[in-house]
Amino acid sequence: MHFTKKITDDLVWVGANDRRLAMFEGVYSVPGGVSYNSYLLLDDKTVLFDTVDKAVSHRFFENVAFALDGRQLDYLVVQHMEPDHSAVLDELLLRYPSVKVVCNAKIQTMIKQFFDLDIDAKIVEENDTLNTGKHLLHFVMAPMVHWPEVMVTYDSTDKILFSADGFGTFGALNGAIFADEVDFNADYMDEARRYYTNIVGKYGSQVQALLNKASTFSIEMICPLHGFVWRKNLSDIISKYVLWSTYRPEENGVMIAYASVYGNTENAAEILSGMLRCKGVKTTMYDVSVTPPSEIIAAAFKWSHLVFASTTYNAGIFVTMDDLLSDLVAHNIQNRTVAVIENGSWAATSGCLMRGKFEKCKNINILEQTVSIKSGLKPTQMTELKAVADAIAADFPQPAESTKADTTRLDPGAMEKLSYGLFVLTAKDGDRDNGCIINTSTQITVKPLRISIAVSKENYTHDIIKKAGEFNVSTLSTSVPFSVFEHFGFQSGRDTDKFADCTSDSRTGNGIRYVPKYTNGVISGKVINKYDYETHTLFVADVTEARVLSNEPSATYKYYFDNIKPKPQPSTEQKKGFICKICGYIYEGDTLPDDFICPLCKHGAVDFEPIK
Ligand code: FEO
Repeated sequence: MHFTKKITDDLVWVGANDRRLAMFEGVYSVPGGVSYNSYLLLDDKTVLFDTVDKAVSHRFFENVAFALDGRQLDYLVVQHMEPDHSAVLDELLLRYPSVKVVCNAKIQTMIKQFFDLDIDAKIVEENDTLNTGKHLLHFVMAPMVHWPEVMVTYDSTDKILFSADGFGTFGALNGAIFADEVDFNADYMDEARRYYTNIVGKYGSQVQALLNKASTFSIEMICPLHGFVWRKNLSDIISKYVLWSTYRPEENGVMIAYASVYGNTENAAEILSGMLRCKGVKTTMYDVSVTPPSEIIAAAFKWSHLVFASTTYNAGIFVTMDDLLSDLVAHNIQNRTVAVIENGSWAATSGCLMRGKFEKCKNINILEQTVSIKSGLKPTQMTELKAVADAIAADFPQPAESTKADTTRLDPGAMEKLSYGLFVLTAKDGDRDNGCIINTSTQITVKPLRISIAVSKENYTHDIIKKAGEFNVSTLSTSVPFSVFEHFGFQSGRDTDKFADCTSDSRTGNGIRYVPKYTNGVISGKVINKYDYETHTLFVADVTEARVLSNEPSATYKYYFDNIKPKPQPSTEQKKGFICKICGYIYEGDTLPDDFICPLCKHGAVDFEPIK
């Protein structure tokens, strides 16, 4: 029985999942299975993007036949000739003899290699296009992502990138098809990293080349050959690819991998890990004889500092560690600080040999501090182990003196001279609408039209935008009364429905509310990137809609202070403390904590002044 998934009105997933496969490519364990994705475009012409592995061919052919619903198959776009995507190409040609294969010259050569078939293919080159009716397909060469013949396809009509192995992940799809249907970061990012680092980790510069080409397209959806389709929060996976392909770590911390026959090398590794934890350094540990190398390679790409501890075996590195290091070097690991610990009951050699392994790697800083254990760690060697821990901890970036603010040189008034506007930021979580006040919406570029917004993590709207990836910014005009700031700024959407009493239902094309009164314009944004800045997230978004609502001037931050915010009233009971310059909240006390956040408007201590 077929099992297909609708991707868009005229694109259908016709792939299949395999949960029986033990080792993908014979080397990578896939405990969560794997999906082989294939997509069928139903335009004036029908186009199939790649096929599947032989193991799931039965389901695949059922799916294709069902999705075609009696139509003929016009084109088969072959993007990658690795058999997990092309093994049933010959059978497809038998079942659909009139289909025209679309591929590049290298792919045609490989078809001949794998199948001994001479086919009359439509050969495409860089930037060639294929018009299928409504859709225009652009072909982009992506050599070594993951084989030399690979190409990807961009559908400029629906802004979809068919990315071949790129942006794939291990794991069967389990009924879902879109990454936003699951908790990808929590449940699948580790497998996406393991997939990337092991499959294409070696080819960072080629992945960079593809990312550069892709950045010239406006992409709203990514359809890879493994794993989930991305239609929201594309920056979640693209930002990881930027780090992975440039061999930059995702996290500051130490990955400790050890090979220990009788537990003595493990003991030293564990004590080192404890020492680092005492210094506030994050650590993670792997026994290389137990954990599959693909997991440790993925972890090595994630963490900034690596420690390898190995016993000496047959006058060399212990076999599982030897294999791991060879594999890691083959995957082109770069830009890391490495420490080694060796053990040897009579002739320790593993330390020197492990160091030698990294000679071929770029920008690996091997710490000179080390420990050579003779059978078991001795109390006198704790100093040496501590020196390793100290050297690692000292290698982490320290806050630069020059970036520490000299408070005597900070006049908060200078910040108020910035000509901020004021905005109601709205977003939608399912059926739930919410909005908050921000003063941080700025245009970044004209072509493409992009804006940024910085939003406090305290705001419920922040969480909705992070999840949904879309928002509206309504620009407040000078007619706006203080009550609008009270309504959207001084209460939380987590416990209040801010639109409960709203009689109108003004929405833009993205389905999100905007504020039609006291405003002069509304801009809809679709998030393409987000950046974490401790208290706030900076969202960068493509503008998808923009409307003028009135010709009233915009209310600036200064205008708000001068004309909208009520002036403090003389009080018979003089309070002692600090007043929030934004909303008037009073903190009673002799000193205001540096990290105090206004419970009403969420501004920090810098926006408070002493009550005079
Ligand atoms: Fe999924 Fe390189 O094949």
